[in-house]
Amino acid sequence: MTVSEQTDAAGEALRPHAEHAFAGELKALAAADDRPRPARWKLSPWAVSTYLLGGTLPDGTLITPKYVGPRRLVEVAVTTLATDRALLLLGVPGTAKTWVSEHLAAAVSGDSTLLVQGTAGTPEEAVRYGWNYARLLADGPSREALVPSPVMRAMAEGMTVRVEELTRIPADVQDALITILSEKTLPVPELGQEVQAVRGFNLVATANDRDRGVNELSSALRRRFNTVVLPLPATPEDEVDIVSRRVAQTGRALDLPAAPEGLAEIRRVVTIFRELRDGVTTDGRTKLKSPSGTLSTAEAISVVTGGLALAAHFGDGVLRPGDVVDGILGAVVRDPASDRVIWQEYVETVVREREGWKDFYRACREAAA
Ligand SMILES: Nc1ncnc2c1ncn2[C@@H]1O[C@H](COP(=O)(O)OP(=O)(O)OP(=O)(O)O)[C@@H](O)[C@H]1O
Ligand SMILES: [Mg+2]
Repeated sequence: MTVSEQTDAAGEALRPHAEHAFAGELKALAAADDRPRPARWKLSPWAVSTYLLGGTLPDGTLITPKYVGPRRLVEVAVTTLATDRALLLLGVPGTAKTWVSEHLAAAVSGDSTLLVQGTAGTPEEAVRYGWNYARLLADGPSREALVPSPVMRAMAEGMTVRVEELTRIPADVQDALITILSEKTLPVPELGQEVQAVRGFNLVATANDRDRGVNELSSALRRRFNTVVLPLPATPEDEVDIVSRRVAQTGRALDLPAAPEGLAEIRRVVTIFRELRDGVTTDGRTKLKSPSGTLSTAEAISVVTGGLALAAHFGDGVLRPGDVVDGILGAVVRDPASDRVIWQEYVETVVREREGWKDFYRACREAAA
C-alpha cells in the first residue's frame, strides 16, 4: 500500500483520489467490461466513458455521472487517449477540466496521482528528471541517483500523466514536452541512456481560456494535442444537477446535513450566476451588466457548501437565503467599485421584482447594510 492508499483506506483523507473514492464503481465496470482494452488500460474506452458519464451496468450496478455535459466530448477525449496524440482540455475556469482529467487518469490507468502542476516557476526537472544530489556527489551520475519526473514514470510504466495549467509553464519547459510527445522518448545524456515510452503512456493537459497569452502554446506543441473544449453547463437544470451532486458529495466529507429544502436555494444561486454571466435575465427581457468575476459552476458549488456550513453551525440546518447571500456577494463583487454597482442594480431591478424572492431580497438588503 502506498501512503495515499493508507490515508484513503482509513477514511481520513479530506479528499480521496478518484480511484479510491470510486473504487467500487471501477471494480464493477472492470468486471462487466468485455470490450477490447488498449494496452495497459484498466478499462475499455466504452467503460471509461460510462464511468465518466454514468449509467447502469447489466447486473444493476449504478455508475454515478462524474461529468455532466455532451457525451460526444467525453467520447472524443477518451478515444484520443487511445491514440498516440495527447489530450488538451481547454475551457474557462470552473468547467471541470481538472476534474475530468483526474477521472480519466483514474479510469484509464487506475492512478490519478502522476501529476505535474504547471506554474510560472515549473522547472524542466518537473517534466524530465532531476538528481538526488547526495548520491550524485557520492557516486556520480547513475540510474539510482536519477529522480524521475511523473512524466518519466508514466512513460516507463505505460500510464497516464496529467499536466495542470499547461499554458502557465514557461515556453522552454513546454518545449521539453515536444520530444516526449512526438518521439515518445526521454534521453538521459548524462547516462548515455534513454527512457522509451511503453504502450499505454499518454498525457492529459489542462489549460485555462483566461490565461491565453500568458504563455501561448507553441504551434509545434499544439499539434501534438487533440483539443477538447469543455463548455459551461448548457441548461440551468444541468447546472443545478452538477451543483447539488457535488455539494452532496463534499457535504458528506464535511459532515454537513443534506437538506432537500436547500434545492430551491441552489436553484436560486445558479439562476443568479447564469443571469449575471450571460448579461441577460432568464426570460430574456432585461439586459444586465456582467461583473468581472467568472461566476463559474465551481464558484456556485463553493457558495452553496459555505451556506450549508453556516446553516449547520449557526442556523437550523436548512439552507436559507441569509446563508448564501454573503457567499454570492463574495463571488460577484471582485472589484469593490464597479462590481458592487452592478450587484446593487441587479438586486433592485431583478431580485426585488421577482415572484417568490422576497426573503432573498430582504437578505440582500441586510447584507448590504
Ligand atoms: N459539467 C460538469 N460536470 C460535473 N462537474 C462539474 C461540471 N462543471 C463543473 N463541475 C464541478 O466544478 C468543480 C471545479 O472544477 P475544476 O476544478 O475541475 O475546474 P477547472 O476547469 O479545472 O477550473 P480552473 O480553470 O479554475 O482550474 C468540480 O468539483 C466539478 O465537479
Ligand atoms: Mg483546474
